[in-house]
Order: sequence, then structure tokens, then C-alpha cells
Amino acid sequence: MDRIRIVGGRPLRGTIPISGAKNATLPLMIASLLTEETLVLENVPRLADVSQLQRILGNHGVDVTLNGKRSGDGEYQGQTLSLSAKNIVDTTAPYELVSKMRASFWVIGPLLARMGQARVSMPGGCAIGTRPVDLLIMALARLGAEIEIDGGYVVARAAKGLKGGEIRFPSVTVSGTHTAIMAASLARGSTRIENAACEPEIVDLADCLNKMGARISGAGTPRILVDGVARLGGARHRVLPDRIETGTYAIAAAMTGGEVLLEGARPELLQSALDLLAQAGVGVAATNQGVRISRNGSAIAPVEVSTAPFPGFPTDLQAQLMALMTCANGVSRITETIFENRFMHVQELVRLGARIQLHGETATIEGIERLKGAPVMATDLRASVSLVIAGLAAEGETIVNRVYHLDRGFERLEEKLGRCGAEIERLSG
Ligand code: UD1
Repeated sequence: MDRIRIVGGRPLRGTIPISGAKNATLPLMIASLLTEETLVLENVPRLADVSQLQRILGNHGVDVTLNGKRSGDGEYQGQTLSLSAKNIVDTTAPYELVSKMRASFWVIGPLLARMGQARVSMPGGCAIGTRPVDLLIMALARLGAEIEIDGGYVVARAAKGLKGGEIRFPSVTVSGTHTAIMAASLARGSTRIENAACEPEIVDLADCLNKMGARISGAGTPRILVDGVARLGGARHRVLPDRIETGTYAIAAAMTGGEVLLEGARPELLQSALDLLAQAGVGVAATNQGVRISRNGSAIAPVEVSTAPFPGFPTDLQAQLMALMTCANGVSRITETIFENRFMHVQELVRLGARIQLHGETATIEGIERLKGAPVMATDLRASVSLVIAGLAAEGETIVNRVYHLDRGFERLEEKLGRCGAEIERLSG
């Protein structure tokens, strides 16, 4: 199993190109199931989760082709995927595939809406909490689907097609909102989604669906209206930049000191996180090329923050922020409100010398002068990258095990950091 070796203590200086957003790419790829025409997605990141979803969609009969670089394309230009679901050959998503990537459960909405039936394995447990799918099921039931659970599978039927309805989410859910939008797009009549997630990836999906002929308004606000259409067509869509990758490298630059341009980043996608960094004493400047992050010698001021749905501070940056706060000049408090059990990085950061106490959903972090390198490992994507960030600033060598978590969500991490002066390498085997 690959590991990453880091020798900490070098400031980051240079340019980091920001890739297309993983969390937008996955639902966009799944949206290809809604049409028999071809959906072309540009700026798709090269990630293990994308390859895994290609396999899952292939199982349903989606033909996926990957266009390589065109002449003139920059080295870091994302890939272009063409997805054609002309013939859906199977409406079952088996346990072996869904259990590998939770988001693949989302195929249930498009399969049901287009084919009138879907049989999708429940995703099962996950390292960051139970992550149920009850709200996705509720949304589909509100659109007229008959649903039963059979042998670990959610079996959904709508023999005469879905029909519009009102979906009121009791709590904000990104997965529920994606599912509701996709299913309602092909339902008969209008759907109103209340307390919808406002995340930029929801807006990106709605934009793409509208290009395919859907009639969705209000995406990015808590009330989304969808007028169902009889069929959707093909489209070409460019995936928006990854705000979590942006925030991660912004925090890495803040942690090590130095100055980094996050090229192609869109600051409005992560304003809460950038504001928090500025509050902590980090230099943050929006430029026409992206976002510039700098810290030259000044101390990191401690912060108090709770994770929250967009536009609040994202749970997907919680672990990285905690890594930064281990070296702040005082005591920070970080509260996780979205996922239970999303603190696996705490014990690993403690192995690097961090002083962190957990009380329920709140971590209290007492800043110290310097972390010390050690072997560490984590069991989820964002936790793993927080250990990389910590390692970049720690004295001596840090080995991050289970790198496959990083490969799920960060494209060429060691290359991007290495080019900015980090001493970081992948050890194979
Ligand atoms: C997505 C992101 C993930 C991010 C999260 C929150 C993708 C691929 N993943 O995950 O990176 O951390 O949004 O911003 O885009 N819930 C229920 N019942 C449900 C669905 C969700 O109780 O049916 C709960 C979850 O357990 C969680 C909360 O709602 O506590 C938020 O989940 P949700 O917004 O749906 O997250 P995901 O879409 O899974």
C-alpha cells in the first residue's frame, strides 16, 4: 500500500492549479443516466472516485469515453468525459459497487425517473458516521415512488413515472437535494423542494441539468422549483473548481508560511473559510487568476468555529483547520455539527504532539510551538489530508499511511505540493 513521506518545515511558494470539484463531478456523471444523448463533462479531476463511478455507471450500460489532452491544453487541464446512457441495461446497483463509494447510491434518482424502477444497495456504514439515506428515500416517495427495503437493497418503483410534489427536508442534505433535483427533472408536473442544500455543487448540477433541457430555478437557495419535462437531452458542461481542494491548500500555505497562488480558485465558493483564515492572521487576496494566500512570520491567531451547511464553514475543511490550529497562538474551539464521529484525525494529530481535547462535538485545541513528525494514518479523505498538512509543518519526518484515501479526492497531491517546495514523496508498496 502506498505511503506518503514528508519532511516538514519548508514554506510553500509558488502556484497550485485547482482541479475540478470532486463533489460536483460525481452527481454530474450520475446525471448522464437521465438522457439517452451524450453528456460531455470538462475539467473532470483525475481521481479514484471518478474511476470508480465510471465502473459503476458502466454496469448500468453507460458508455464512458475519456478524451486525453488536446494540443495546447495545459498540463493540469482536467480531463473530458463523454457519457452516453443510450441503453440502460441494468437498473440494479449491487452491494459490491455501492459499498465502495457512498455517492453511487445516488443513481437511484435518475434510474427511477427514467426507467420507472431501480434496485440499489444501501451504502452501509462509513468511517465518518452512519450516513443514512432515509431523506433520499423520503424525497423519492414524495414524488410518487413505491419503496421497499429488501435484502439490503432499496427497491423503488414508479411504473407510470414520477409525479411532481412538495419535498420538505427536515435537515439540510446535499445528497437528498441532488437526488430530488435529478428525479423531479423527469417527473410529471412541478416539484417544490424546501430547505434545500445551497452548496455550489447543487448549483453546478442544476446548471448542467438546465443545459440538458430541465427547468430548475432557485438552486443555491433553500427553495428550489423544478418543472418536470418529458425528456432530457445531451449537453456540454465544465465542472466548477474544487472549493475543498482550494481551502486545503490555502490552509497548507497558512500552516507552513510562504506565499501560494491557488490558480483558478473562486473565492466566493469558500468565503467563510477564507474569512476565517484572514481572521487568523493569514493574508488572503482574490486576484483575477485565483486566490493568493500568504503568511510571512506572523503567528496564527486561534479561532472558534462550527461547521455548517453552505455558506457556513464546510465540514470537509474541519480536519484541515484543526491541523492549522494545533500551532496557533492560543486556544481554538472547533465544533462539528454535520457528521457524527468526524474526529478520527484527532488522535493522529496528537501523535504529532498536538494538544487536543474532545468534548462531544467540540474539539478544544491548545496551540503549541511546533509539531513533531511521526507515522500516522487516517480512515477518511479529509482526515488524511489534514495529516499531510500537519506533516508539512512538523519537525522531521512524517509518514502518512493509507494514501488511497487521498487518491479518492486529491489529484496529484504530492506533485502540486512538491512544486511549491514541499519535501514530499510517494513511497510505493
Ligand atoms: C456531501 C459531500 C461530503 C460533504 C457533505 C456535507 C459529496 C460526494 N459528498 O455528502 O463531502 O461532507 O455533503 O457537506 O458531495 N443525512 C441523513 N439522512 C439522509 C441523508 C443525509 O440523516 O438521507 C444526514 C447525514 O448523515 C449528515 C447530514 O445529513 O449528518 C448531511 O449529509 P449530506 O449533506 O447528505 O452529505 P452527503 O451528500 O452524503
